[in-house]
Amino acid sequence: MKIDKLKQYFKSEELLGRGIYWLENSAIRVTGKAIKEGKVKVLDELKRKVLECKKCGLHKTRNKVVFGEGNPNCVIMLVGEAPGREEDLQGRPFVGEAGKLLDKMLEAIGFSREDVYIANVLKCRPPGNRDPLPEEIRACKDYLIRQIEIIKPSIILTLGKFATSVILEKSRYEFSRLRGKICDWKGIKVLPTFHPAALLRHGGWKKEAWEHLKLLRRLYDEREERRN
Ligand code: URA
Ligand code: SF4
Repeated sequence: MKIDKLKQYFKSEELLGRGIYWLENSAIRVTGKAIKEGKVKVLDELKRKVLECKKCGLHKTRNKVVFGEGNPNCVIMLVGEAPGREEDLQGRPFVGEAGKLLDKMLEAIGFSREDVYIANVLKCRPPGNRDPLPEEIRACKDYLIRQIEIIKPSIILTLGKFATSVILEKSRYEFSRLRGKICDWKGIKVLPTFHPAALLRHGGWKKEAWEHLKLLRRLYDEREERRN
């Protein structure tokens, strides 16, 4: 009887995707891994759908869809604007010049790409890197929202005025007021900062961007302290 109950319990855990853990010492690790695997599966399903998307005109000119990538168990998620030339060719976010700077920015506060998840508002490249159109944002936005819901980060760093305005549902003209301020989206902390491509054009903004990055690190450390 007792064994049956136990079996039933483990079966239900398995169904819930939590995995079966026999050893007390490895319980947390195994559970964490299982959660990650659950997220990977749901994200993969979404990715398959997005790779075939034709909801807006950008599907006609894209080479590759850039779904996003990174650690699905991350604390920090980064949201950019849209793929550029390199990203469109490779199907990966932030692999061009702006991406190199982004890597350095992360490194400066002790993170790497493996620690975070990176996605864009638009999954396909606007021709000639023009600004995203309102109808393209409307068509694509739900994919990003789903990614956030699946990944459940604690902190979102929005890169530039488009990502900031889409996530916070503000006009893009409010970016100058919002950058560097801790905002909220459904209980997730949102920190708007400059887009790395903008920092490449305006080196003078890097000083302020560095303050934002230090604030990001502080938010992360405070969260870790609360958890310990
Ligand atoms: N700029 C973005 O906003 N996203 C990318 O992936 C690359 C450049
Ligand atoms: Fe679909 Fe978004 Fe690509 Fe438009 S940009 S085709 S909505 S994935």
